[in-house]
Amino acid sequence: MTALLDAAERMDREELRALQLERLRATLRHVYTHVGHYRAAFDRAGLHPDDCRSLADLARFPFTTKADLRDNYPFGMFAVPEEQVRRIHASSGTTGRPTVVGYTQGDLDTWADVVARSIRAAGGRPGQKVHVAYGYGLFTGGLGAHYGAERLGCTVIPASGGMTARQVQLIQDFRPEIIMVTPSYMLTLLDEFERQGVDPRTTSLKVGIFGAEPWTQEMRREIEERFAIDAVDIYGLSEVMGPGVAQECVETKDGLHIWEDHFYPEVVDPFTGEVLPEGAEGELVFTSLTKEAMPVIRYRTRDLTRLLPGTARVFRRMEKVTGRSDDLVILRGVNLFPTQIEEIVLRTPAVSPHFQLRLTREGRLDVLTVRAEARAGATPEQRAAAAASVAAAVKDGIGVSVGVEILDPETLERSVGKFRRIVDERDRPGR
Ligand code: DLL
Repeated sequence: MTALLDAAERMDREELRALQLERLRATLRHVYTHVGHYRAAFDRAGLHPDDCRSLADLARFPFTTKADLRDNYPFGMFAVPEEQVRRIHASSGTTGRPTVVGYTQGDLDTWADVVARSIRAAGGRPGQKVHVAYGYGLFTGGLGAHYGAERLGCTVIPASGGMTARQVQLIQDFRPEIIMVTPSYMLTLLDEFERQGVDPRTTSLKVGIFGAEPWTQEMRREIEERFAIDAVDIYGLSEVMGPGVAQECVETKDGLHIWEDHFYPEVVDPFTGEVLPEGAEGELVFTSLTKEAMPVIRYRTRDLTRLLPGTARVFRRMEKVTGRSDDLVILRGVNLFPTQIEEIVLRTPAVSPHFQLRLTREGRLDVLTVRAEARAGATPEQRAAAAASVAAAVKDGIGVSVGVEILDPETLERSVGKFRRIVDERDRPGR
């Protein structure tokens, strides 16, 4: 086993913390010298990089938010001259300007290393074939997975997202052991296998590395059983790097080990910003420790999770992300995340895993309707019972009344990448 680990994975906690402090101090100096935004923010807080003498001192430094990146659009957060930037990615903002990130050659190397480490932790080995169905382009998923798989010594099949029928064909013909794709698009592939009359349990696939959107243990079970594979979670965000910030190990499947030699995590109270102790749930915050082109200091991810001690690796784990504060629906005073509905839908036998949440307004009240497809062959009685059971489980488990519509199979829009789980129609005129 140890032969399969790289040098950082074999450190003890003390060595790791010493390395983190050294890298943190260098990063703070780097941004203070080269990024106007950070110099101004540190000066306003009365802090100099030298004031960081321990890892705990980081908590004194100001947060960075998505708004800071937007205000410095496009290249204002870069800490190196533009000609040293080898690649740019951007995440499509739902409103206004996209968030732009840049990488030096050194950053691209680090990124490939952490993704290679992630694929290895997921059970991948050199010589295997990796089917990459994350989208290629400005989104970090495709290219991030691609270079990581090559770095590990795998053969990459750069399928990208879409053209689902062809993806199924390629998987049958090229016989990859590993697939990297969003969990929602994996469900779309599952339907396509069945449509083509191919039993998904008979493919060459052994491991699926799923991320870019929240997914539940119930979804893991569904995918593992239907494909007869191991399904593990990969996490990341463009502002911090892309995929490969944290990865679940296949031998434990107990949350994601954060590659802490490159990304320093904190969990903070989302309202007060106070750093929370290990085990407490809050907002995940990252400081990059080795990035050159666009380091981030205390970046607020808006993802909610908790930090846990390491198990399969020395690095700390983060619990599977159950939701981000942006996806929180507050319905008549009750907080609800789409993943809570996913758990209920997937526990309801007559219903398929395809569902969407529609938010509408009736008078002054927000109304949430769970729209889920029936499994093929479900009878009208089973469908009626499923609707009643989903509504009751939401009422009992979450404490709020929702509408439930059980639709015919194949009626909802299908995911080709990150799935839009909530359709918000509250602002539509006439409603
Ligand atoms: O989604 C990077 C990525 C690509 C990760 C492929 C994993 C696989 P962004 O487009 O910047 O980057 O979106 C980042 O997606 O803040 C989370 O809210 C969400 N997210 C990413 N991975 C997971 C995951 C990529 N495993 C945002 N579980 C993050 C839950 C995830 N949410």
